[in-house]
Formats: sequence, C-alpha cells, structure tokens
Amino acid sequence: MELLEAMKSRKSVRGYKPVPVPKETIAEILEIATRAPSAYNTQPWEFHVLAGEVLDELKKALAEKFETGAEPHPDFAIPTPLVGIYRTRQVELGKSLFQLMDIGREDKEKRNEWTLKMARFWDAPNVIIIATDREVSGPLLIFSIGAITQSVALAALHFGLGTCIEHPPVYYPEVIRRIIGIPESKKIVIGLAIGYPDWDFPANRLQSTRELLANTVAWHGV
Ligand SMILES: Cc1cc2nc3c(=O)[nH]c(=O)nc-3n(C[C@H](O)[C@H](O)[C@H](O)COP(=O)(O)O)c2cc1C
Repeated sequence: MELLEAMKSRKSVRGYKPVPVPKETIAEILEIATRAPSAYNTQPWEFHVLAGEVLDELKKALAEKFETGAEPHPDFAIPTPLVGIYRTRQVELGKSLFQLMDIGREDKEKRNEWTLKMARFWDAPNVIIIATDREVSGPLLIFSIGAITQSVALAALHFGLGTCIEHPPVYYPEVIRRIIGIPESKKIVIGLAIGYPDWDFPANRLQSTRELLANTVAWHGV
C-alpha cells in the first residue's frame, strides 16, 4: 500500500474475522516497524505475539479480572481524568461508538459486554504486547514506543490487516505476566489487537473526527 494512502486510511479496528494472521506476516510487519526511530537508538521495545490457545486463555483471564472491578494498576499509569476539550473528544468518541453498536446510555448489560470485548482485545485473532526493561523510563521511552506502535499499525495495512492500540488490557499486568511469562524485570507498556478487519462490524464504520489543522498549527516565518 502506498505510504500516504496508508496514513490516511489507518483507523482503529474493533471487530475482526476469526482468521489467524500467519506468523511470517507478523514477523515481516515487526521487522519493518523496527525501522522506527527511537531516542538515542535505544530501541526500548520487546514484542510478545500471541495467538491460539494462549491468547484465548489470556482474553478469558483479562475479562474475568475486569469483571471483578479491581483497581487498575498498569506498569505505566493511566492518565488523570481528562478535562476540557480532551474530555469532550473522549465523550464524542464513546457516543459515536455506542450509537454504531446500538448501545443505549442506560443499557448496563451491553455496556459491560462492550468493556469485556475491549478487555479481550476486541476478540482479535492475534495480539502484540509491547514490553520494555524496567530500568528504562521517562518520556523518551514512551515517545519511542509510540513511534514503533504507529509503524506497526501502518505496516499492518499493507497486508490487509487492521489494528487497535489498547491500554486497558494491560491494566492488570500480573495477569499477562502469569500467562505468558513476562518477568518482573520488564514493564508491559501497551497492547495491539491485530487481524483481518470484519468490515460488517458496526463500530468499524466509525471515521473519527480531527480538529481542523488551522486550529492546531502556528506558522513561523513561513
Ligand atoms: C495509547 C492509546 C490507547 C488506546 N486505547 C484504546 C482502547 O483502550 N480502546 C479503544 O477502543 N481504542 C483505543 N485507542 C484508539 C483510539 O481510541 C483511537 O486512535 C482514536 O479514537 C482515533 O481513532 P482512529 O484510530 O480510528 O483514527 C487507543 C489509542 C492509543 C494511541
């Protein structure tokens, strides 16, 4: 896929066909994505690629954990509650998704189902979990992991795949550590659902909005 077309068409995919992605395809995507920039070329990333029974076990365990309502304690803290325009955008996103999914404001059961589906990585056939060394910290680390995460999402498009970057499934890192054996010396940063998009899944129709460029750019000497 042509680069600009990929950048323009990338969107978060929340419904997938139950078709596993070949290992070689994911390996190729990761190989390409590792050309991403990183602060001081530290390359502070490690990938855990999941599928099959182990992924099923993880999805089940995460959904059960979410159902307990336990306080999340991710290795990288959840931001403080959003305010102002950021909160407005968050609410708008939620409303649009619920509208497409026909989930009513008061429909606790459907809302709960939606949360559990999110905890299960949107039931994607494959998942990539990105971890880093515990001694690596600070904004440059997160910046570098952000860069490679976007590269994975863009490279995936070339193979007809969709992705959704997700933080909530790593809210309970001990569950992931136990099931896939990530040691305490590593921090779990973020997860990506990856798979062939089910374009009939209503939420996949969402085209999220963007602020006008004119409101986010200042030109200096241009
Ligand atoms: C760090 C990060 C965490 C995210 N976590 C979630 C998530 O938990 N659930 C979800 O549905 N989307 C999640 N997303 C996707 C965003 O909601 C999405 O990128 C945003 O709404 C813009 O929509 P688009 O990706 O379709 O362009 C996350 C994205 C990022 C970068």
